[in-house]
Amino acid sequence: MISRKLTLALVCVAFAACFKKDEDKAAPAPEATEAPAKKLPFEPLPEVEVDPKKVELGRRLYFDTRLSGDGTLSCASCHSFDKGGADAAKVSTGIRGQQGPINSPTVLNAHLNFVQFWDGRAKDLEEQALGPVENPVEMGATWPEVVERLKADEKMVEWFDALYEDGITKENIAAAIAEFERSLSTPAPFDRYLQGDEDAISEKAKRGLDLFVKTGCVSCHTGPGLGGTMFQKFGLLEDYFPIRGGELTEADLGRYNVTKNEADKHMFKVPLLRNVALTAPYFHDGSVDDLGRAVEIMARVQLRKKLEPDEIEAIVAFLETLTGELPPHAAPPEDDEKEPKGEN
Ligand code: HEC
Ligand code: HEC
Repeated sequence: MISRKLTLALVCVAFAACFKKDEDKAAPAPEATEAPAKKLPFEPLPEVEVDPKKVELGRRLYFDTRLSGDGTLSCASCHSFDKGGADAAKVSTGIRGQQGPINSPTVLNAHLNFVQFWDGRAKDLEEQALGPVENPVEMGATWPEVVERLKADEKMVEWFDALYEDGITKENIAAAIAEFERSLSTPAPFDRYLQGDEDAISEKAKRGLDLFVKTGCVSCHTGPGLGGTMFQKFGLLEDYFPIRGGELTEADLGRYNVTKNEADKHMFKVPLLRNVALTAPYFHDGSVDDLGRAVEIMARVQLRKKLEPDEIEAIVAFLETLTGELPPHAAPPEDDEKEPKGEN
C-alpha cells in the first residue's frame, strides 16, 4: 500500500500532470477552480477512536517533567500547544541546555504520519514516545528511573493499574502518551471546505489550493495531513544544500542514517502541512523562518518551478486554512484534579 503510494507519487513528480490525466480518462474534467471540492486528492481529517481515560493519563504524562533526568523537561517543552505543537526554535534544546541536531515537528495530527521522525526511524507513536526519554540530548533519563519515580506516586500507580494489566511499565507510559497524541486532531477551515462549505476559505486561498494542485505540491503533500504518507528526497530536482549554505550535518542525510542506502541520502518523511502556519521555522534544519520562502524553495528544488510573488502569497493563504482548532484538553492538567476525567 505504502510502496504503491510512493510509486504513484514518484510517477506524478515525473509527469506533473498525471492527476489531471486521470481525471481526463474518467470523465471530461471541469476546470479545477469550478471542480466540486470532493474531486480533490485530499480527505478531511478522519475520526479517531480513543479511550478517554488513557487520553487523560497520557495528557498528564505528556506534561510530566519526571520523564526527564533532572526534572526540567516534559514532552510539552519541545512540543508546546502554544506553538502549534512544536517549539518555534531552529533546533530543540534538551536537558542542560544542549542544542539538538534537528527541528522539532508538530505532535498535532502526528498519528497521520505513516512513520515517525524526519527519517522515519520509529514505526508508530508508541515506538516514538520511547525515544526522547533516554535520548541524552533530549530528556536524558533512563526508563528504569522514570518507572521508579512514577511507582513512588500512589495516584499514578492507581491510574495505571486501573487501565493497564501490568501497571506502570515503559511500554504503558508510551502507550498512554500515544493515545493522548491520537486525540490531537485539529479540524480546520479546509476540512469544512472539503465537506462542501464553499465559504469556509477565501477566494485567495482557493486560488492557492488550485496552484498547490497544479504546481504539483500535491504529489508529495497528500492525504488528510497533506503529508506524512511517504519519503521523498529534499532537493529532488535541484540540490537544496548549496542554497541553504553551511556545512552538511549528519541530520541532513535523513533516511540514510537509518538504512545506510546511498539512494536514501537526503530522503525525509514528507512533513504534514496541517498547522504549518504556526510552526516556523521550517524544514528539518529549521533554516527558513518565512512560510512564503519555504514555499518558494519547495517549488524550485522539488518541482523546478519559479512561482511569482502573488502565487506564493496565494499558496500561503491556502496553507493558512490548514490551521485548525486545538481540542480543549490540549492544555496542561490542573493540579487539583484528583483522577483522570475521562469525558473528553
Ligand atoms: C528536547 C526537545 C524534545 C523533547 C523533550 C521531546 N521531543 Fe519530540 N521531537 C523533538 C525533535 C527535535 C524531533 C525530531 C527528531 C527527528 O526527527 O530526528 C521530535 C519528534 C517527535 C515526534 C515525531 C513527529 C513527526 O512528524 O515525525 C513526535 C510524535 C514527538 N516528537 C513526540 C514527543 C513526545 C511524546 C515526547 C515526550 C515523551 C517528546 N516528543 C519529547 C524534540 C523533543
Ligand atoms: C517531491 C516531493 C515534494 C514536493 C513536490 C513538494 N514538497 Fe514540500 N516537502 C517535501 C519534503 C521531503 C519536505 C521536508 C524537507 C526537509 O525539511 O527535509 C517538505 C517540506 C515542506 C514544507 C516545510 C514544512 C515544515 O514543517 O518544515 C513546506 C511548507 C512545503 N514542503 C510546502 C510545499 C509546497 C507549497 C509545495 C509545492 C510548491 C511542495 N511542498 C512540494 C516534499 C515535497
